[in-house]
Parts: sequence; structure tokens; C-alpha cells
Amino acid sequence: MNKLIVYYEELEVGTLIFDGDERLSFQYDTSWLKHPSRFPLSIAMALSEKPFGHLVTKSFFENLLPEGNIRALTQEHGKNSIQTEFGFLKEFGGDCAGAFKIRPAKISFSKSKLTRKELKLSTIYGYLKDKKSLADEILNHEGGKFSLAGAQDKFAIIYQQKKIYLPLDGTPTTHIIKPAVRNFKSTHDTPYNEYFCMKLANAVGLHVPHVDIIEGEFPLFVTQRFDRFIDKKGKACRIHQQDFCQAQGLTSLKKYETEGGPTFKDNYELIKSHSASPIPDLNQLLKWLLLNLVIGNNDSHSKNLAFLQTTNGIRLAPFYDILSTSIYKEVGQRFSFKIGEQNLWFKLKIRTFQKFSLDLGLNDDFLAKQAKNLFSALDQKLPVEIQDFKERFPEQMTSKVLEEEIKKRMNFFHEVFGI
Ligand SMILES: Nc1ncnc2c1ncn2[C@@H]1O[C@H](COP(=O)(O)OP(=O)(O)O)[C@@H](O)[C@H]1O
Ligand SMILES: [Mg+2]
Repeated sequence: MNKLIVYYEELEVGTLIFDGDERLSFQYDTSWLKHPSRFPLSIAMALSEKPFGHLVTKSFFENLLPEGNIRALTQEHGKNSIQTEFGFLKEFGGDCAGAFKIRPAKISFSKSKLTRKELKLSTIYGYLKDKKSLADEILNHEGGKFSLAGAQDKFAIIYQQKKIYLPLDGTPTTHIIKPAVRNFKSTHDTPYNEYFCMKLANAVGLHVPHVDIIEGEFPLFVTQRFDRFIDKKGKACRIHQQDFCQAQGLTSLKKYETEGGPTFKDNYELIKSHSASPIPDLNQLLKWLLLNLVIGNNDSHSKNLAFLQTTNGIRLAPFYDILSTSIYKEVGQRFSFKIGEQNLWFKLKIRTFQKFSLDLGLNDDFLAKQAKNLFSALDQKLPVEIQDFKERFPEQMTSKVLEEEIKKRMNFFHEVFGI
């Protein structure tokens, strides 16, 4: 039997157990259940004295790991001990999404020193030139210790005075870096695409973290972590987040509705029942849906939504991973959620939206009103964002391609909603 301790700051939250049959279980520590700062791992794992079985335990911890090829490659090149999900967390779980640190044994916090190591841009560019996965190289060769979800290559860093540092063990990271998506020929500009779409989302009123591009030989998208904050002494601290797969007790394999994952309504209901402030959060969610339709983000699945812990309970977290996927013709063109049984945007009709609204329990014209507000904000802000982008990146065609895509879709939805 193998054990890992889940910590929040210096407090023991509980124990993760991996038994001889490779089954996981988790139990909260009694001290955590009584602690004034207590909060659960996820909605699916409410605070309780009873141990949790394999499936629900896996749903929380598996969702902390990289997905698909990135995990497979890292495991293929890494130590034997990281071949299981448990082993991966044992090695890299010192810094994960949310507030928990996962460590092998009881740590003496008074003796442990937070450690980090500078990573030069030239080293990153070297790996990119050699067509290597950054997650793989950084975890297996540079000594970085973090675990980040998602199917795309990325790594977590401590970003200070424009310098990049890797966490060596248990140090909270402050930012996430994503290079261009290299699985397809046409996706070489995803850092610019995500930067543009996240800034546009912010301009039209969606809550998003601060994003930027680190310029150089290869563009790197960088986002400030919303699950971290810097305290008065300058120390980085963690805030808990749970994604909507964790919240619903599902592994990352269920992030898409088409793979048996949550529908938009499931996520809507989840916020309705669990957010500490459901009305503004539901409005944000609807705005997110409409914006994703308008920019052509077909990857807006349930793992790209999260709850953030606050002192008053959980709230919908800022949005991340917003970019137009539809501008890349090699990538799937079906929207991640069905709108009234339909997931091809150009087949959506007012009837489809009405059925969808009815199903969510919305007033007849509520979604049309939301769309109208969003489109008038886009009419105002899109030219500003395009201008800013062109001034900063005069050589880049991304904003031009996005402008065409967004305008084409906006015209279509203007007609659909009759606005
Ligand atoms: N700004 C952020 N703050 C905190 N966590 C983030 C942020 N951006 C991404 N994440 C976390 O990292 C994971 C992967 O990031 P994401 O941008 O969704 O990558 P991918 O394109 O691989 O899906 C997310 O599921 C979330 O847990
Ligand atoms: Mg994602």
C-alpha cells in the first residue's frame, strides 16, 4: 500500500491511498474536518469522515494530470515510478491546479525550503527547435515539479521581473506558459490566437486572468494563475479550484458531451445549485457560451470551466483556454456542447435556441437579449482589440483571420436572433 498526503498550506487535508490492485481511495484527516479553514476537494467529495472509493477519488486526482499524448510522452521518457497516475502525482504533485500540495510523506515544514531554478528562454527555444515537448523535457530533465491538466503542451512557472523559474519542490507557481500547438500544420499561431481571444473576452465583460505573449524566437502565451495570489509579504499563496469534471465526479475522458460528459445544462444546473452567487455566475456562463460560438471555440468543454474557492463558498472561476479553433480547418468543427440537439454552428436556428432556453428554464427572449448585448459590445471592442494587436504584432496575420471569422459568425447570429 502506497500513501500520499494532501496538504493545504501546512495542514494535512487527507490521505490518498493506492493499494496493491492499483485502486485509489481518499480519506479526509479529522483535523481538517474540524479546521476553520476547511473546504472539500470538490463538490463530488464533500467533507466527510467516510473514505472515498476508487472512482470518485480518481475523478479528482486524475484531473490534475496532463492528458493524452503529453502524459503518455512524459511517462514514456520518465522514471518507472511515474507510469501510474499515483506515481505521477507522487513525483510532480508538489504544485497542481488549486490549493493542494500532494507529497509522499509527512513534511517538516520548518525545515523544508522552497526552491526554484531559473529557466532561460534560450533553453525553451532549444527544445522547441528540436520539436520536443516542453512538459516532457521540463519534468524529466530540468527538474520542474508540477502537474498541469490539459491536452496541450505547457508548463507552470514562477514569473518574476520577466524571469522564468521552475518550482523544484512544492513552491507555488504563479503563471502558466503555452507554446504553439504543434499537432497540426496550421496551428503555429495559437499563442497569438489565445492572447487575442482572451483579451477580447475581457473587453466584452467576461472574467479572465491577465494574459500576455513572451516574444522571441517562438511566441509563448503566458497567463497569470487565478488560483494563486501574492500576500503582503510577497509570498505566493494558493487558492483552491476544481474543474467541472472534478466537481461532477468525472475523469478527463468525460470532458466532452459527445464522449458522455456533462451537457451545457448539467453545467448550468451545477452553478445554479452550488455557486455562492449563482445569478452573476450563470450570466457569465451564458456569455461564455455565446462568445465561444461567435469566435468559433469548439474546445469549450467542461474541463475548461472551474469553480474557485472564496471565503463565502465557491464561485465560477475566471475563464481560460478561450481561442478560435474553427480558423484551423484541420481541427474538429463541431461545437463542444449541443444547443437544442445541434452542434454545428451554421445549422443553429432561432428554434434551436428557443428549445435550448426553455430547457434551461430561461425566459423566452433572455438569450436573445444576452446575444444583443454581447454583439453590441463586440461591435465596439473588436476594432479596438484588432488595432492594439496590429500595433503590437504588425507582422502577425492572426487578428485579420480572426476578424473575418468573427464577423462572418456575428452576421449569421444577428440573423438567427433577428437583432
Ligand atoms: N490562468 C489560469 N489560472 C489557473 N489555472 C489555469 C489557468 N489557465 C489554465 N489553468 C489550468 O491549467 C489547465 C490547462 O490549461 P488550458 O489552457 O485549459 O490548456 P489546454 O489547452 O491544454 O486545455 C486548466 O484545465 C486549468 O486547470
Ligand atoms: Mg483546456
